[in-house]
Amino acid sequence: MQANIVVLPGDGIGPEITVAAVDVLKAIAARFGHDFTFSEHDIGGIAIDNHGEPLPAATLDACSRADAVLLGAVGGPRWSDPNAKVRPEQGLLAIRKALGLFANLRPVRTHPAALHASPIKPELLADVDFVVVRELTGGIYFGDKTRDADSASDLCRYTVAEIERVLRSAFRLAQQRRGKLTSVDKANVLETSRLWRDVAARIGREEFPDVELEHQLVDSMAMHLIAKPRAYDVIVTENMFGDILTDEASMLAGSLGLLPSASLGEQGKVGIYEPIHGSAPDIAGKGIANPYATILSAAMLLRHSLGLEDEAAAIEHAVAAALDDGLFTADLAAQGRALSTSQAAQAVLACLQ
Ligand code: NAI
Ligand code: MG
Repeated sequence: MQANIVVLPGDGIGPEITVAAVDVLKAIAARFGHDFTFSEHDIGGIAIDNHGEPLPAATLDACSRADAVLLGAVGGPRWSDPNAKVRPEQGLLAIRKALGLFANLRPVRTHPAALHASPIKPELLADVDFVVVRELTGGIYFGDKTRDADSASDLCRYTVAEIERVLRSAFRLAQQRRGKLTSVDKANVLETSRLWRDVAARIGREEFPDVELEHQLVDSMAMHLIAKPRAYDVIVTENMFGDILTDEASMLAGSLGLLPSASLGEQGKVGIYEPIHGSAPDIAGKGIANPYATILSAAMLLRHSLGLEDEAAAIEHAVAAALDDGLFTADLAAQGRALSTSQAAQAVLACLQ
């Protein structure tokens, strides 16, 4: 298969981890006889430095014409002045919005060899396997913002159509998995959540009667996610709740550096694949970042954008085998012997053979 993959390394550890994932994609292409072409473009802080804006038109144009997009991360202290007119994160929000990427899939799986890295008791962690579907282009992150001398506001707004499309994605995913969907909201307080809950209940009843639907308030969900993580299959929630719950969920897996994501729009549209973590400025340039989340994001790219299930599974098995062999970067290594980013990527390449 021929595919045109746009790579957006971004800032901080972004360039280090995307190189690792591209090497793995090249190895997959060689082994399975595919022809992948890669082109790099600027986004985030680097784009502000080079072009004066976080999402240059050339970047957006390349992404809209690509078969899939692999992204590192954006942001960092250099561009963090709260009064700055342009910020790296604006590039990320803008590209998600422009490409219509309303469903952000964040699978959370624990791995037997990495349980030691989690602060949670190991007996709660075995066989945890759920996917959070986070709404990505609506809600408070995109609402009107105001600021004056002594007040500020962020508007949270959702339309029925925005809620319906992300819920349908989540229901479909639940059908392909264990048939259970947990919809998370704050319906005891927020009007947007009451609308969310009504839409979820109606779509469940009318279109997906075979999926078991439960509603959960976000605050107690934060607790249940830690107390009984095995109870979940697919979790669907609005933008900000999903952002927060998935960083919490990363502690089940043991490190932010293990969690991949896929941001998807309507069927057949380009998707963006990126680790859930940020640009990790505290370790950027040291060559010690964990590349596994980005490599696993590349696997999701093969599965969701290119329909290459065997190739995706080959990458996931290779990462699992590397973890089984105790091939850890510093975020996972119990003590001493941590691999560098490129050694960890080499370990995955070796396991692919
Ligand atoms: P972060 O996710 O970058 O880092 C949090 C902690 O986890 C840090 O101690 C970091 O060293 C560690 N970490 C993250 N990824 C790692 C990896 N692959 N291997 C080993 N350790 C890893 O979040 P933080 O520090 O809150 O934000 C840093 C910058 O990243 C900010 O400018 C923020 O706006 C941006 N950011 C960007 C995101 C994106 O591009 N999608 C998402 C989240 C934050
Ligand atoms: Mg986040």
